[in-house]
Amino acid sequence: MAVDTQTPRPSRDQVAPPVNLFLFGAHGDLVKRLLVPSLYNLTRDGLVDDALRIIGVDHNQVSDEAYREKLADFMRQHAAKGGKPGSQDGGEGAAGLDETLWRGLAQRISYLEGDFLDDSTYQAIAQRIASSGTRNAIFYLATAPRFFCEVIQRLAHAGLLEETDGQFRRVVVEKPFGSDLKTAQELNAGILGVMDERQVYRIDHYLGKETVQNILVSRFANGLFEAFWNNHYVDHVQITAAETVGVEQRGNFYERTGALRDMVPNHLFQLLAMTAMEPPAAFGADAVRTEKAKVIAAIRPQSPEEARRNSVRGQYTAGEINGARVAGYREEPRVAPDSCTETYVALKLWVDNWRWAGVPFYLRTGKRLSVRDTEIAICFKPAPMSPFRDTHVHRMRPNYLIIQIQPDEGMWFDFQAKRPGTTLEIDNIRMGFAYSDFFAMQPSTGYETLLYDCMIGDQTLFQRADNIENGWRAVQPFLDAWEGCKDVQYYPAGSDGPEAADELLRRDGRAWHSLK
Ligand code: BG6
Repeated sequence: MAVDTQTPRPSRDQVAPPVNLFLFGAHGDLVKRLLVPSLYNLTRDGLVDDALRIIGVDHNQVSDEAYREKLADFMRQHAAKGGKPGSQDGGEGAAGLDETLWRGLAQRISYLEGDFLDDSTYQAIAQRIASSGTRNAIFYLATAPRFFCEVIQRLAHAGLLEETDGQFRRVVVEKPFGSDLKTAQELNAGILGVMDERQVYRIDHYLGKETVQNILVSRFANGLFEAFWNNHYVDHVQITAAETVGVEQRGNFYERTGALRDMVPNHLFQLLAMTAMEPPAAFGADAVRTEKAKVIAAIRPQSPEEARRNSVRGQYTAGEINGARVAGYREEPRVAPDSCTETYVALKLWVDNWRWAGVPFYLRTGKRLSVRDTEIAICFKPAPMSPFRDTHVHRMRPNYLIIQIQPDEGMWFDFQAKRPGTTLEIDNIRMGFAYSDFFAMQPSTGYETLLYDCMIGDQTLFQRADNIENGWRAVQPFLDAWEGCKDVQYYPAGSDGPEAADELLRRDGRAWHSLK
């Protein structure tokens, strides 16, 4: 792949060009809960062109009117519930529906009934484009993954991916992108056989989160952080994505996926890459993605014994969350009663490069944990000596820089200060910044930036083929090393995860930053 570090970022803060946006999987949850609310928010912010056309594509037979009504019902219900900035398990970002705004958006929405595997669907798509005011088109695959390659090949076969006369044709591919290295490589080969990488937008919704984008700004727009952002000062890094939700109605999907595939090569590795990458030469898509790819490629491969020793798989049993009893994973709908699928994973990894040599990266993610907490904790080395030796201050707690992704959004340092008084007592304090203290945040789903970027042709926040494959390559040793239920550690819902995950750090003389 040619790497062009000089490509300037397309200009932002402007109305995106007109486009026909085809949403494959029009009846799915993603369209209703996240994509349409995001388009509504983009319209509110005046960022989409009047000639934007949104066309839902799916096999069910419904009229344009009925389809619009279905979306409107959802928008109203959630606005009534005070839908707040959304996430995949949260609200939808349409706080208080503005009916005039909604009507303006709704009139651009239509529906196209079609089988994804039938060529006539693609002829109908071509006609829709031909009869619209623009030849630009984005094909958003919000479908089951088994359709990704099929749909793209058919789009290509119908000539719909050809870009002529300055028009653009782009495809957005949702997660999961493959289920291991081999399937991801096959999918990339299938896609890149018929279209250019420049046209492919592989989504990782974590990259739509403000705080995730802010990691790069904090690191590279300030001189402060770079001074200690290396193995001279950093003892280790912890990356946590703790959820209180269980698998809900997704038992079928989750049984085949598990926590490692669902969260690590994509979301957690994005956080890791942004934390560990070198400064890009420019803030363009290729420069940023090249640096991220290098970091993930530098994750040390582990032998099967190392992979077993440096990982913990957990599964939740029945327990209590926020005072309510919740079922164990094996009692969830569409989950096998003897399932060995992990709902929790903790890993110890190393990034073998100059900056991070010797600094372990501990990652953990799980469902049905005590709290929702996504954070990056940079743990610093202790002071070189303790001048407090003859006092009762014996053990200094480590200093941390916490990058809090959700539910709160901000950054802070955890360090010690003298408690006022005549004796020398040291206490932990926190110095930091909360997004909400400085910026008025409009309700959002996190998909607004991603949709807008796709419309303006900015791939910086999308995964390039090599990033995806590097991610799978780094987790493959764990997938290969695990053996059925033998490795699964059980933890009660509402806890902080299996005891073995604490042991993973304890044996290194470390501890997880507490969930809060
Ligand atoms: C999705 C996973 O990609 O991310 C879900 O499939 C998970 O299982 C979700 O719950 C977490 O996203 P967020 O934005 O709530 O952290």
